[in-house]
Amino acid sequence: MTTRILVTGGCGFIGSNFVRMVLAERPDWEVVNLDKLTYAGRLENLADVARDPRYRFVRGDICSPETVRDAMTGCTAAVNFAAETHVDRSLLGAAHFIETDMKGVLVLLEEARRVGLQRFVQISTDEVYGSIAQGSFTEESVLNPRNPYAASKAGGDRLAFAYWATYKVPVVITRASNNYGPFQYPEKLIPLFVTNALRDESLPLYGDGRNVRDWLHVADHCRAVLFVLEHGAEGEVYNIAGGNERENIEITNEVLRVLGKPASLIRKVEDRVGHDRRYSLDAGKLRRLGWEPRVSFERGLEETVRWYVEHEAWWRPIKDHDGEFRRYYQEQYGARLG
Ligand SMILES: NC(=O)c1ccc[n+]([C@@H]2O[C@H](COP(=O)([O-])OP(=O)(O)OC[C@H]3O[C@@H](n4cnc5c(N)ncnc54)[C@H](O)[C@@H]3O)[C@@H](O)[C@H]2O)c1
Repeated sequence: MTTRILVTGGCGFIGSNFVRMVLAERPDWEVVNLDKLTYAGRLENLADVARDPRYRFVRGDICSPETVRDAMTGCTAAVNFAAETHVDRSLLGAAHFIETDMKGVLVLLEEARRVGLQRFVQISTDEVYGSIAQGSFTEESVLNPRNPYAASKAGGDRLAFAYWATYKVPVVITRASNNYGPFQYPEKLIPLFVTNALRDESLPLYGDGRNVRDWLHVADHCRAVLFVLEHGAEGEVYNIAGGNERENIEITNEVLRVLGKPASLIRKVEDRVGHDRRYSLDAGKLRRLGWEPRVSFERGLEETVRWYVEHEAWWRPIKDHDGEFRRYYQEQYGARLG
């Protein structure tokens, strides 16, 4: 029997990598991609599979029960990537985040419950734990989200758990660290800095540049999501980490090194308000089940930088002609860069 899965947010960064991986690695699966095509969702991210008979795209909002009902028809499982995802944008206005990252999850869970879905993977984030000075968060750690994005994701995360605890909707929750790789909208650290550096524009580095994140290649993340979709236990949470903790300044220097650009492009700017200092995840639970990251950080970062070098036709229209990107960049960095 054919397995048909609903992937939401499949036109975004991680979702598009996941859809491509599933179509390639599960030849008897069909994928329905439900995506609203916000500023971050791009049809071109999946242009290479658009004509695959096992792939169907539905443009729509996960907050709409009718749309979700239509898209979920005939599906046995769902993976919810759809979200507002940018911390900086959540600091400029949080309402969209509450809508999609909480209410949208509610709509999906209600429909999953109604149709008796066999598996529902909620993609959460390491941000829900908040900052940690030393050591690493396990799945049992207390949630302490400290920005509106993180708080809305924590709401979706716990709502999904509640639908398992209350109604036995077969929910699995993943909390991944910072992803990097191809097709990431060029407002996040790595693609922003690569594309700015390529044009000899300043790299606006927040604060002292010493905030620490763990970096996970998107392909390793997608493999982990596929793994828990097939093998995860209901009601469980799984941390997903690359094991590559780096300060932002280290990432910045590495990007400049690969591109052969000077450190003088770095501009230290006023910090993000409430900027969490360090995130760190213990991913031992998933590793003990058999998943482990395969992409070394040094190789993965270099390949990622080269991908943006070679795919200027993908990012240049976003940066030059997408009014949304320019409006955001001006609002976020205009005064900071002076
Ligand atoms: N990027 C990371 O480093 C990271 C780390 C951990 C977890 N996550 C989580 O992974 C998921 C995907 O992140 P990403 O970086 O690929 O995001 P993204 O911003 O690149 O893509 C989000 C996608 O969701 C779609 N979308 C937004 N609102 C929608 C709605 N209401 N209905 C339908 N579609 C909607 C957008 O059009 C877009 O295609 C998110 O849930 C995010 O919280 C991301």
